[in-house]
Amino acid sequence: MQSTTNKDDHPPKSLRQALSRARRLLGDRLEADLLACHALGRDRSWLYAHDGDPLDDGTLARFEALVAQRLEGRPIAQICGLREFYGRDFSVDEHVLIPRPETELLVEVALSLELPDKARVCDVGTGSGCIALTLAAERPAWRVTGIERSVEALAVASANRERLVLARVELLPGDLLAPVVDRCFDLIVSNPPYVAEVDPHLKQGDLRFEPIAALAGGPDGLEVIRRLAPAAFDRLERGGWLLVEHGHDQAADVRELFRSTGFRDISSRLDLARIERITLGRKP
Ligand SMILES: C[S@@+](CC[C@H](N)C(=O)[O-])C[C@H]1O[C@@H](n2cnc3c(N)ncnc32)[C@H](O)[C@@H]1O
Repeated sequence: MQSTTNKDDHPPKSLRQALSRARRLLGDRLEADLLACHALGRDRSWLYAHDGDPLDDGTLARFEALVAQRLEGRPIAQICGLREFYGRDFSVDEHVLIPRPETELLVEVALSLELPDKARVCDVGTGSGCIALTLAAERPAWRVTGIERSVEALAVASANRERLVLARVELLPGDLLAPVVDRCFDLIVSNPPYVAEVDPHLKQGDLRFEPIAALAGGPDGLEVIRRLAPAAFDRLERGGWLLVEHGHDQAADVRELFRSTGFRDISSRLDLARIERITLGRKP
């Protein structure tokens, strides 16, 4: 682990000094502040109101250990164990993908669809449960199921279900839609692994710390979507929707995959960076 102290540094005596050193080391004020909040068990408004306070050795050591983890590259969300998604906090650890802002678009599109009041909804590859639990929280009458192949990830989803008091959300272990072969849904959503397994980004930055099974989707990144499209077609009611998130350059391939599977009313939606990120299609 990298040291956060420099031989010329004097140990910080106050929170302000510790923050200033962490901000300099990390080159990121917000990250330093978030780590300080985590070490102190306080929020940011407390931090700014008390930055002249003295810092005890235990808290300083805790803060510096967190800064050292970040300097090693561990994502902030994993260090703090939390990430906000669609206005709610989700627990995360090294077994789940850290919820991304682009996935909030998938949630928004899902919420904008015309569906039965008591829509049956399935989230395939639920990970932390961020999509399934958000849809259930936003639409209390929907009956939401999340499916996940990784038992460790499913445990995180289950903890989040408890945290958000959403016991009615069903969480099932298994591959794609195999656990629900005898059921039909009005909406199937998925943010599947879609990075090509040879993509060098998988070995860089924060991605190194996230589960490869949540990221890599075979040689061209489309392996899971290729299996999911026909499986979802079989499990959808007539008029039901399949909605998937995909990579920045995969929209045309995903639309074609949907078309050849039999989906109609196919379209893709742009994220905030004006990149086609979400593709949806309807079972006729
Ligand atoms: C990109 S992550 C998405 C997690 C979460 N839904 C989100 O949006 O943050 C993909 C998830 O799908 C799971 N997964 C991958 N292949 C699967 C499969 N064949 N069946 C079920 N889950 C799968 C992975 O374990 C991972 O948790």
